[in-house]
Amino acid sequence: MKSVISYPHRGKWGDANYRGNCSGYVIKELLEYFKPRTFLEVFAGGGTGYDVARELGYTDSVHLDLNPRWGGWNALKDAVPVSVDFIFCHPPYFDIIIYSGEVWGEAHKDDLSRARDYKDYIEKLNFVHKKLFRSLNRGGRLAILIGDCRKNGVYYSIIKDMDYFGTLESHIIKIQHNVKSKKIKYHGSFIPIIHEHLLIFRKS
Ligand SMILES: C[S@@+](CC[C@H](N)C(=O)[O-])C[C@H]1O[C@@H](n2cnc3c(N)ncnc32)[C@H](O)[C@@H]1O
Repeated sequence: MKSVISYPHRGKWGDANYRGNCSGYVIKELLEYFKPRTFLEVFAGGGTGYDVARELGYTDSVHLDLNPRWGGWNALKDAVPVSVDFIFCHPPYFDIIIYSGEVWGEAHKDDLSRARDYKDYIEKLNFVHKKLFRSLNRGGRLAILIGDCRKNGVYYSIIKDMDYFGTLESHIIKIQHNVKSKKIKYHGSFIPIIHEHLLIFRKS
């Protein structure tokens, strides 16, 4: 693994049609690099992390999401059910994709993609990250995959506005492939975003 990652094809893991899904290669590389004994994925969505974990032999990894497919676990209300060595966390990028009521089921008030506004979204994100970090075993790692976004001409840097926990061990840039902004011509009005951030925090 290096500080820039790029996977032109997302791989065979999970549901490729689940909006905002990530490439299974990200999770595979992380698990192969850090070799954690225990693994939790939060915001499991289309099942990418689940498929990768099973393929790598994790028979007891835990995968959670508000989506009823994963038991309707609510990151804002429910306790983290396990203490693990490694957490992969891939939250909604503000309201760029609305999940409940659009990707699955009925609109849910605690869906992070339905936060009242950006401030509310960041507060909720911080609350969830803090809870996840606290739940880690000592020496464990929290890997957060998150993108910046632009809405009505305003640039929102989530990685600048969110809280950091423990030691920031790595900041990896992930090139985005197949994003809408790559295909649209903006005639120089702004620079399209074609990358995401993978931040790895360690609890020492
Ligand atoms: C970016 S998607 C994750 C995609 C996943 N990594 C994949 O590859 O398919 C974000 C997920 O956050 C979930 N979510 C939103 N609010 C939540 C909450 N309060 N608690 C738990 N999950 C939530 C959504 O249901 C959605 O599946």
